Amino acid sequence: MGELSPFPVRASAAAGEVDALYFFIVAVSTIMTALIFFVVLSFAIKYRRRSPDERPRPIHGSIPLEITWSVIPFGIMLIMFGWGTKLYFELYTPPKNALDVYVTGKQWMWKVNYPEGQREINELHVPTGRAIRVTLASEDVIHSFFIPAFRTKHDVIPGQYVAIWFQPTKPGRYHLFCAEYCGTQHSTMGGWVTVMEPADYEAWLAGTERGASMVEEGAKLFQQFGCANCHVLNLTARCPPLGNVYGNPVKLEDGRTVIADEAYLRESILNPNAKIVAGYKRDVMPSFQGQVSEEGLLQLIAYIKSLSNPNERRP
Ligand code: CUA
Repeated sequence: MGELSPFPVRASAAAGEVDALYFFIVAVSTIMTALIFFVVLSFAIKYRRRSPDERPRPIHGSIPLEITWSVIPFGIMLIMFGWGTKLYFELYTPPKNALDVYVTGKQWMWKVNYPEGQREINELHVPTGRAIRVTLASEDVIHSFFIPAFRTKHDVIPGQYVAIWFQPTKPGRYHLFCAEYCGTQHSTMGGWVTVMEPADYEAWLAGTERGASMVEEGAKLFQQFGCANCHVLNLTARCPPLGNVYGNPVKLEDGRTVIADEAYLRESILNPNAKIVAGYKRDVMPSFQGQVSEEGLLQLIAYIKSLSNPNERRP
């Protein structure tokens, strides 16, 4: 790790391209600033007023010149825009086969849940060579999940899920920060990401104490809250069946179709009337707002996800 380098190490697959875009924008800005500066300076000298009664000759504009200095910068801006947009969509569209990790921000710590039941605080362990999808939630205020070495940063907003992803490339330990002022101890809210070779990661997973898996915890909550009384697996009852719901389109009463992703499931638990499934009634299901913690919600959702593809297992 270059101690004095102005840039953090590049430890994820996307880091190189993020840096390249950054350098491109800095280079363009520097060249344009220098160009404007020198042109202003040389024109100020060349066309300075030489005597008090000097009258400058009127000038007539030049259409070709105007077009040139409009079109070229416009093209350069479009490159920035196009490149930035492409990168943005890549950075925030997790691939389908990604490993899942769940991170909840809470004043002032990061709680990490692995699907198999391992838990950590302010520590995140990931293998190299795999895409890692991190689902972010907040228990209280806005935090920001920031891993400089991966060039990834995203606000974590109470009341919604954000999924980010990265593919670690270099084993090592990297800083994890909260990058949003979130109260008096904001500066202490951080930790470490440990990137390991896949075999070491497997050994770490196996050797780390684990509780019930997220799916098992979710199943427990599902019973505890009485969800099973109405949501019969594949049977049409008073409430929509939950088997095979996750990841699939759901037809709503108002004619819209939505994809049942984490955000949809979360909303349906906390605010069941927000989106009524076609063919079902309003006000049948009570809201569970305030009764389930963010962790509990993630577990419930993990359980509902497991109903869609019960054979899906992490390698
Ligand atoms: Cu959380 Cu700053």
